[in-house]
Amino acid sequence: MASAAPVEEPTAAAEAKRRPTGDSFIRRHLRTLAPYQPILPFEVLSARLGRRPEDIIKLDANENPYGPPPEVATALGSLKFPYVYPDPESRHLRAALAEDSGLESEYILAGCGADELIDLIMRCVLEPGDKIVDCPPTFTMYEFDASVNGALVIKVPRLPDFSLDVDRIVEVVEQENPKCIFLTSPNNPDGSVINDEDLLKILDLPILVVLDEAYIEFSSLKSKMAWVKKHDNLIVLRTFSKRAGLAGLRVGYGAFPLSIIEYLWRAKQPYNVSVAAEVSACAALQNPTYLENVKNLLVQERERLFNLLKGIPFLKPFPSHSNFILCEVTSGKDAKKIKEDLAKMGVMIRHYDKKELKGYIRISVGKPEHTDALMKGLHALQL
Ligand SMILES: Cc1ncc(COP(=O)(O)O)c(C=O)c1O
Repeated sequence: MASAAPVEEPTAAAEAKRRPTGDSFIRRHLRTLAPYQPILPFEVLSARLGRRPEDIIKLDANENPYGPPPEVATALGSLKFPYVYPDPESRHLRAALAEDSGLESEYILAGCGADELIDLIMRCVLEPGDKIVDCPPTFTMYEFDASVNGALVIKVPRLPDFSLDVDRIVEVVEQENPKCIFLTSPNNPDGSVINDEDLLKILDLPILVVLDEAYIEFSSLKSKMAWVKKHDNLIVLRTFSKRAGLAGLRVGYGAFPLSIIEYLWRAKQPYNVSVAAEVSACAALQNPTYLENVKNLLVQERERLFNLLKGIPFLKPFPSHSNFILCEVTSGKDAKKIKEDLAKMGVMIRHYDKKELKGYIRISVGKPEHTDALMKGLHALQL
């Protein structure tokens, strides 16, 4: 009788093939992705600082400290059908936005924040290996989403005054054939705006231009939403996070050429704007006077804050058209230490430690009493 063949010990390689590790299922380009570093949730932050959330002065994420108009709480408190899925086409909201913007609703699509729309645009536009143009320093989600979508990022750094290097953008578009460019006006983190001449020059290039107007209300510029009717390569993004104090509810929107929007409709998640989000945004738009007053208060406070920051010997603030002010930290002071020292006093600001912005801080504009607490902290650091 033939004896059974001896059972072989599996080699490590054979074993790995039979029993693959979890990360081997992950798409190759994502395995090297650096995680996005979100800010700490408010409750975690306040517990860490040993203060009540109400006592923390949060000037680190460009939120609107006035919050939404009272109509929003009333509307949220009387939601009739929270158990029914939301309208996939956000019809009420898009009709209200059409009235608000003067652009017909067929050009408008809403999302779970402008953030969702940035990713959705990339998912619809970029093949793996396609290139986008990013103009740092700017909002870091463009670069992050490009990496998630397997795209390559060509960086055209801004000039020392943070304006766009348009000549270099033109060169890069000719040489590298990128698919789209992300422009931010006012730009986060410095608050500079893009002039029409530069924008038109870039729109003339064979590239899709995504103009992010998340902070447009705080500038004296008019939104370019209506331009999507005459520029087939322009998308304009906006949000309720800043203008209406609804960052926590997640509502953004965009204006798109009709030839592009139809594909976003096909690719988007059906219920991307929740019932609560749509109801809140509609309620906020019912009180334009409140939105206008809050904007005026923040713009007024921005000017006061700017003048006060100019008086701090170790800070060089940059003029801003938005609800935040970028400052270069000078005189040998350390940006990270300033941020940490202020945090101990319950005042949160943002500091930067990477490349173009190493040694800078960004301070969101708050209420007058927030500015006062910040200035008290900064003066204490001077001693
Ligand atoms: C330039 C810019 N675009 C978009 C967003 C995100 O907006 P939303 O809260 O609507 O996702 C932000 C948030 O800070 C931003 O700074």
